[in-house]
Amino acid sequence: MMVPGKVLISEKEIKKKVRELAKKVSLYYKGEDVIMIGVLKGAFVFLSDLMRAVKFPVKVDFMAVKSYKGTETTGEVNILLDLREDIEGKDVLIVEDIVDTGITLNAVKRILEKRKPKSLRICALLDKKERRVVDVKVDYIGFAIPNKFVVGYGLDFEEKYRNLPYVSLLKDE
Ligand code: IMP
Ligand code: MG
Repeated sequence: MMVPGKVLISEKEIKKKVRELAKKVSLYYKGEDVIMIGVLKGAFVFLSDLMRAVKFPVKVDFMAVKSYKGTETTGEVNILLDLREDIEGKDVLIVEDIVDTGITLNAVKRILEKRKPKSLRICALLDKKERRVVDVKVDYIGFAIPNKFVVGYGLDFEEKYRNLPYVSLLKDE
């Protein structure tokens, strides 16, 4: 059975990083009203901390997509839940838990670009660079991590362990 093992990123390190990222985001948008878009489910924990560390009013919305990681590297995704906000002419910040192959983020970005936002940037807590299949520009990255499966702080293994306040590796027990 796979269970959380070694802590890769502690709660304290995450808190510090979230503050740093929020500072950068705040400087860039300078109080413009930004819509933060969380990609469900993984991003909701990070998004909730990030938005509360930002010093100006932000709007929040969510999307859920399902990606098919088959032979197709262009990445087909289905929208399971769409935004309720109209993003045309708006500053949009996509918030993700982790960039792995890049397929999900790349697809979400393409879908949202078609809706003509004023700007579209991406913030991801974790980056597993080695696994990248599709090149996607991530504007704000929390931590680069090795090519290992991680859980916690929103990330799951079979829908479990999202509630861990830190990011942990999995071990077989
Ligand atoms: P991508 O499309 O391959 O970039 O996958 C991104 C999604 O895969 C993330 O939003 C996560 O939901 C999931 N994912 C990728 N790596 C991990 C991991 O190490 N732990 C948990 N979920 C992961
Ligand atoms: Mg996810």
